[in-house]
Amino acid sequence: MSPKIIAIESSCDDTAVAVINNGKILANVVSSQTIHKQYGGIVPELASRDHIQNILPVVEEAVERSGIALSELDAVAFTRGPGLIGSLLVGAAFAKSLSLALNIPLIEVNHMVAHVLAHFIDDPKPEFPFICLTVSGGHTQLILVRDHLDMEIVGQTRDDAAGEAFDKSAKLLGLEYPGGPLIDKYAAQGDPYSFEFPEPDIGGLDFSFSGLKTSILRTVQKMKKEDPDSIDNNLEDLSASIQHVIVTILLKKMTTAGKKFDVDQFAIAGGVSANSGLRSRFEALGKERGWKTFIPKFEYCTDNAAMIAITAHYKYKASQFASLDTKPSARLKFEA
Ligand code: KG4
Ligand code: ZN
Repeated sequence: MSPKIIAIESSCDDTAVAVINNGKILANVVSSQTIHKQYGGIVPELASRDHIQNILPVVEEAVERSGIALSELDAVAFTRGPGLIGSLLVGAAFAKSLSLALNIPLIEVNHMVAHVLAHFIDDPKPEFPFICLTVSGGHTQLILVRDHLDMEIVGQTRDDAAGEAFDKSAKLLGLEYPGGPLIDKYAAQGDPYSFEFPEPDIGGLDFSFSGLKTSILRTVQKMKKEDPDSIDNNLEDLSASIQHVIVTILLKKMTTAGKKFDVDQFAIAGGVSANSGLRSRFEALGKERGWKTFIPKFEYCTDNAAMIAITAHYKYKASQFASLDTKPSARLKFEA
């Protein structure tokens, strides 16, 4: 059995399509929307409209690049959620139409499970069980992964996601949306110990970033009052200090989770796993503690359809198909 599957991802502001053959990615196309920049955040209505415009050309490009004919496909997969409902509906409706037209089964994929399974696209792959820290614009989760389709959230954020913490801090520094990559860029030139921001005081494996946001806001307001140019003049040091505290918070909880579940394999996933500070400190921590660490390729960190395709591959093998009336869900429950 070597399933050939087309996978569609449209949960947020990227229209993405991938084709996979027996677990090997043959095409992985992403069209990222740029229209939201001018609004300082994603405008859901505009995102849905853009998906409608992009979806057919992106599907056509992915199919062409894969070298596989539509008639050879064995299944069509789509992101069911979580995400923006208007965006999800576009991908779901397209996938269902394709499934009907080609008379092939439909597979629904949870976007957060797919971020974890992005680690099974290329070698080396983690062994079970492992802990995956999934950090994106909408989520911050510690996941205990027992098998491809058997995983559980053991810790998550109580307020902002790590990506939001980056983006909101960047906004306070006057940077464009999405500010995460910009903080990363400026941080490379700054001193991470020049400003001190507090770590939240919550036990267990949950995260909280709202106190940090308030503390950064206060610092920025105070600095601006003393000197209106002080933020620009300290952009590198501020970015480095903000990045440092966010990464410290993430890695401390990950370490606690590892101890609790007696795990020595760790992975990071999601858009924030593209952060160079997180990547390098995660690797260093792994070396220090003798962990096996797994970091996805950049293209598989942020939203993409290859991760939807690999998840669909495992679901196909487990005969987990969806009916045509499966509804997309903005707050889809984490289940795998
Ligand atoms: O997984 P993703 O592409 O989309 C969601 O599902 O949310 O994650 C997007 C998030 C944004 O908050 C963005 O600022 C953040 O990932 N991000 C980064 C970096 N690259 C993307 N944050 C910090 N450093 C980066 N290099
Ligand atoms: Zn994502």
